[in-house]
Amino acid sequence: MSAVLRLTVTKCRASGIVVILIACLMAVGLSVYFLAGRPYPTANSCSVSPKRPSLPSFGAAPKIAQSVIRLPRTVLPHHYDVRLLPILEKGNFTVLGRVAIDLQCVEETDRIVLHSSDIKVDLKSVQVIEQGEMAKNMLSVESIDYETVTEFLIIRLNAKHKVKLAKRTNYTLSMDFVGNLTDTSAGFFRSVYVEYGVERYMAVSQMEPTDARRVFPCFDEPNMKAIFTVSIGRHRDMTALSNMPLIDTTAIDGMQDFYWDHFAPTLLMSTYLVAFVVANFTKIEADVGNANWKFNIHVRTSAVSQAQYAKVIGPKAQAFYEDYFQMPFPLPKQDMIAIPSAFVGAMENWGLLTYGESVLLYDADVSSLDDRQTVVELVTHELAHQWFGNLVTMDWWSDLWLKEGFTSYIECLAAEHVDPSLERLEQFVTSALHTVMRLDALESSHPISVLVNHPDEIGELFDDISYKKGAAITRMLANFIGAKSFRNGLTHYLRIHQYGNAVQDDLWNALDRQADLDQVFLPTNVKTIMDTWTLKMGFPVVTVQRDYCSQNVTITQKRFLVRKSNSTTADPTVYLWWTPLTYTTDFRTIGSTWLAENQSSKNLTLEFEIRDDEWVIFNVNETGYYRVNYDARNWHLIAKQLMTNHTAISVINRAQIMNDALNLARAGLLVYEVPLNLTKYLEREEEFLPWEATLTALSYLDSMMKRTPGYGLLKNYVLKILSPLYDSLGFVNRSSDSHLTGKLRRKVVESCCSMGHKDCITKAIDSYHRWMSDPQNTTIVPAMLKRVVACTAIRHGGEVEWDFAFQRFRDSNVASEKATLLSSLSCTQESWIIARMLEMCLNPTTGFRTQDALDVIKTLAGNPIGRFLTFNFTREKWLEMTKIFSSIHNLAHVFESVTKAFNTDMELKELSDFVGRNKELLVSAMTRSTQQSIDRVRSNLSWMKQNYRHVVNWLQKANTDVTFQPST
Ligand code: BES
Ligand code: ZN
Repeated sequence: MSAVLRLTVTKCRASGIVVILIACLMAVGLSVYFLAGRPYPTANSCSVSPKRPSLPSFGAAPKIAQSVIRLPRTVLPHHYDVRLLPILEKGNFTVLGRVAIDLQCVEETDRIVLHSSDIKVDLKSVQVIEQGEMAKNMLSVESIDYETVTEFLIIRLNAKHKVKLAKRTNYTLSMDFVGNLTDTSAGFFRSVYVEYGVERYMAVSQMEPTDARRVFPCFDEPNMKAIFTVSIGRHRDMTALSNMPLIDTTAIDGMQDFYWDHFAPTLLMSTYLVAFVVANFTKIEADVGNANWKFNIHVRTSAVSQAQYAKVIGPKAQAFYEDYFQMPFPLPKQDMIAIPSAFVGAMENWGLLTYGESVLLYDADVSSLDDRQTVVELVTHELAHQWFGNLVTMDWWSDLWLKEGFTSYIECLAAEHVDPSLERLEQFVTSALHTVMRLDALESSHPISVLVNHPDEIGELFDDISYKKGAAITRMLANFIGAKSFRNGLTHYLRIHQYGNAVQDDLWNALDRQADLDQVFLPTNVKTIMDTWTLKMGFPVVTVQRDYCSQNVTITQKRFLVRKSNSTTADPTVYLWWTPLTYTTDFRTIGSTWLAENQSSKNLTLEFEIRDDEWVIFNVNETGYYRVNYDARNWHLIAKQLMTNHTAISVINRAQIMNDALNLARAGLLVYEVPLNLTKYLEREEEFLPWEATLTALSYLDSMMKRTPGYGLLKNYVLKILSPLYDSLGFVNRSSDSHLTGKLRRKVVESCCSMGHKDCITKAIDSYHRWMSDPQNTTIVPAMLKRVVACTAIRHGGEVEWDFAFQRFRDSNVASEKATLLSSLSCTQESWIIARMLEMCLNPTTGFRTQDALDVIKTLAGNPIGRFLTFNFTREKWLEMTKIFSSIHNLAHVFESVTKAFNTDMELKELSDFVGRNKELLVSAMTRSTQQSIDRVRSNLSWMKQNYRHVVNWLQKANTDVTFQPST
């Protein structure tokens, strides 16, 4: 226990702190409420709570053994009665609370250990009462201890009289406490927004992963499920919401105009899913047909019209999952609420989903189709959690990916159902797979499944590896096991573990059973296959070597790394995977086989009928999580096919080929000539995915070359291949456009305008100026092009253009439009405006809100002129920023954005120096992300040394080429 800070308040010392207690009471400002009969809760004597040290969030997180940081399982909670009264009053943002927890003792003990942090517990109110037929037996409490590092609250029973909790006996532990209504987005917090010119407050909770303990003392581990009976106090003008429906409202004694809202008891669930909101909002009831539940959307009154889309797709997605999982939604109601500020993303609280406004609301006039896609993605994601996560929960955070990764794949199936026009599933490879492969190709990546202990480590798990790699390997699994067995296996898993917890092996067992029933051929069991993908980091590159005489194809695998360090530390992992291979020579017949994990079968030889002038393509529709490399001749045959008739290869495989080839070259596994030659076919490519995959991969060349003399060549070449598409698509939307065509036009226009295409720039500036002269007209700049139009006009303009966008940003009532305008502000090329933005962003009185600051810094970091100013600013203000932003993970992203294009020795040195000097601040919760940043910069440096010249030489040749023809 020596590593654990401890502060003990004994009952006898409690009398000595009466003065402090009175001060506490006055601070909460509710003496009338307490003195008038003290119904519930009371805070007339609060023990001294240690101030939460800055350690857990930003200090050096001590490595504490799992056994110390996990709760002892001597008592288990089965019911909580939680009462909270949030005070939404300027200068007095507190929460008065009381909790009564019914426990069962499973092993004799003299103490109760549970979680609590930042809460002042009233020592005198702590009671432990034995339940049962016998007369109520109150156990004597000796002391309560706070252990600040582990965030434990230890209630010790009277040792002198040997008071103990007896095995198999039930008790009720109850206490009163005072907590904070914080201004972060964690725990129970206040959110401030302006409506009709009036500043308003609301209270919202966000518990995941480990903040329920900041709201009420509880057993805050996902496998300590219980039933929660919640009562929330509120003013007459406000509405309270919680996981379950309201069943009763009673007046609060002694507090005029205040009421308790009592909610129905929940089902058995984890603490991180408990939720409450107190707000003055409008409720919109959705039409649910003959479903067994109600479905409501809650928004601020001035945004009601923006909730129509969510109102339609919400119940539709929930009904889809009931059918897909073959299990009903078990609660009587579902609420989705849009939080106006200080809330990003969304949270799946059971029965009360919380969203940032920009991801739930959609205004057809000013929001783009992409904004609509975001709404679908988040709504389908959070609703999938109602089964995957809420009904069946991971046993511990190490298995976080089980809910986040699976859900990130399954949400695509629901999105296809609720809005097929978005073609969500089709976009999976570019939105998830290619994105996460970039991260997972670093030596400092991590396995999907990792041991975590400390809350900082738990927080660090919410990354692209858990979400996107988790989703990608789930998609791979669904493909090799088959959609039907996958679905029925999931249903079986949910049925067995409902209202309980599970580890990944439970899921593998359920799928194995189903695969056996359905007689699916697998080379080994699901667990053995999937363990290679979840327990090892990284992924393979599969190399296909054809023998053109014997027609044999030899296949090998090795770990794909963007850069191999000279690290001498031995890593005992054998980087081989059970890899499902699919291949085709015509996209009509698909062959399949497996690469085994064991060393002895490292090489697989396939014999199949294939002419030596025919290509073969592996990883059909990129359902496998791996890259593919070929011998030079097969690459050449693929290039020839692309140049003559690219549609003979599927759209997803065209995206795969471009992304694989460019990344293989980046990693030094393929000469740059091959992918660069492949890009020539793009002159005839009209589909979104191959362009998206190529431009994303080329953006690496763009960021490396941007400050080099060779950049002009790159610009000219990219414009050359983009121009035909720019000409045929045009600048303006057409009503006949599909969603992906709209996305493609935006991508093309963005690239053309940023690379200096004259017509593009003129059109963008022209429409921006027309908008400036008629600001209320929403038809001048189409929503889909608003970012690129504003960005281009600001990039080529000055203060007036910037000020206009800033004004529109401030005035807009639509959160997604605000986000679009915010990002375009960073396009300015004026150093002084950049400096002014940086200065403004940490000061909420300037018009940027606290939650905007990180976006401002991240987008400015992507601006070549802003990059160094931003790095300097970040270095100077780091300490301040760690205090302002509650989530270290947001800061990790800032750090990544600021440094990711660094590619000189000097920049590497500056970065390493900064990390070295700030070990205390950076190393704890950002250990991995800091290492990843350094890793990236090192690989940028070696890229410059190895490839820059070759690429420039190739571009020089290509730009003088009049026609692109495959060299046969
Ligand atoms: N469970 C998460 C919310 C969350 C994230 C809580 C991190 C605590 C820490 C939720 O289901 C989620 O994943 N939200 C995502 C959106 C999703 C579509 C990827 C988010 O908030 O970004
Ligand atoms: Zn999620």
